[in-house]
Amino acid sequence: MKAAVLKAFGEPLSVRQVPDPALGTGEVVVDVVAAGVLPYMAEVLSGERQYLLTLPATPGAGAVGRVRSVGPDTTRLTVGDWVLCDPTVRSRDGAPTPDITLQGLSARGDGGLRLQQHFGRGSFAEQLLVPTENVFPLGSIDPAEAPRWAALNVCLVPYGGLLAADLKAGETVLVNGATGYFGSAGVAVALAMGAGRVVAAGRNRDRLAQLAHRFGSRLRTVSLTGDEDEDRDRMRRAHDPIDVVLDLLPPAAGTAPVRAAAMTVRESGRVVLMGGVGMLGGDDLALPYPWFMRNSITVRGQWMYPPHANTRLIELARSGLLDLDQFEVTEFDLDNAGQAVAHATARAPFSLTVIRP
Ligand SMILES: NC(=O)c1ccc[n+]([C@@H]2O[C@H](COP(=O)([O-])OP(=O)(O)OC[C@H]3O[C@@H](n4cnc5c(N)ncnc54)[C@H](OP(=O)(O)O)[C@@H]3O)[C@@H](O)[C@H]2O)c1
Repeated sequence: MKAAVLKAFGEPLSVRQVPDPALGTGEVVVDVVAAGVLPYMAEVLSGERQYLLTLPATPGAGAVGRVRSVGPDTTRLTVGDWVLCDPTVRSRDGAPTPDITLQGLSARGDGGLRLQQHFGRGSFAEQLLVPTENVFPLGSIDPAEAPRWAALNVCLVPYGGLLAADLKAGETVLVNGATGYFGSAGVAVALAMGAGRVVAAGRNRDRLAQLAHRFGSRLRTVSLTGDEDEDRDRMRRAHDPIDVVLDLLPPAAGTAPVRAAAMTVRESGRVVLMGGVGMLGGDDLALPYPWFMRNSITVRGQWMYPPHANTRLIELARSGLLDLDQFEVTEFDLDNAGQAVAHATARAPFSLTVIRP
């Protein structure tokens, strides 16, 4: 099969013939139809992000495709089914704390790297080997719309955070980094889950205005200044009370805007940290102990999402509650994988770059 291969960090991707995946028990091979490209994939491939990715690697986290072949223990999937592939691969011998590798992207620790040796190849390829439990039926879809369904791989990230926050219908969510790639998807997912209001915080005024136009009266925007105290006041004034804060800031943001947002949450509120802050060093997130204690605040981190999130999010999309038509898709063929990675860096909200092998 044909695949994009990274031989060394900082080198361009080369698209070439590699061996087809060898199917085993507990596994499925999927013909990739659409593989979404992360906006920071260029930083991963350059080595800037310092992600654990064993070389040579085929990048690409997640895909939409059709089942090509199934292992002997498969009971429901059949050849030709349209499926969503979840890149979050968990070891099967490590419950309740499995090792994790993100296919075609990174790993957590030595165990994650061991798992990567078998399941590490990503979706910038004609075929993808996936653990059976990571393959989720989409039902019947219009083949022309397959790239748009790859937006589920984007929406799953903030959905994981909102599930972690146990968001209830009618509650108010503040999304920190709402003008970003995952943050803007988080706004759409929170509204789809029934959030009464979403407070969208960001610095880019044009993008805030676009969000306001897109989502109407359930959205409140807050323009951030970079001054921690001023920004906290602005966010608090946007809506009272804020039940949940979902933070999705990148490493470059540092901790001050995270703290500003976290301390807007109401008494007994929940704060979920999902961004990349601190991943490349910098200050620790200094949270004032008495404020969190006296206000009974829950702070939790969330990496990716639980397996059941896939099925539920597919249902949110199939039912129309989550409108994937909001995403504007730009397609590249596999031979132009490098161009696709460069194109994705634009990071515009609701713009999805997809490779179609
Ligand atoms: N936990 C997980 O499972 C998971 C999964 C995927 C990704 N992530 C993390 O999510 C992070 C965000 O990714 P992304 O692609 O959405 O990033 P992005 O598109 O670059 O978005 C960044 C957002 O952060 C805001 N921002 C940046 N610097 C800021 C500052 N100093 N003060 C306030 N706001 C600031 C931006 O606001 P303006 O544009 O308005 O300035 C924008 O809204 C990634 O870095 C990644 O590490 C986590």
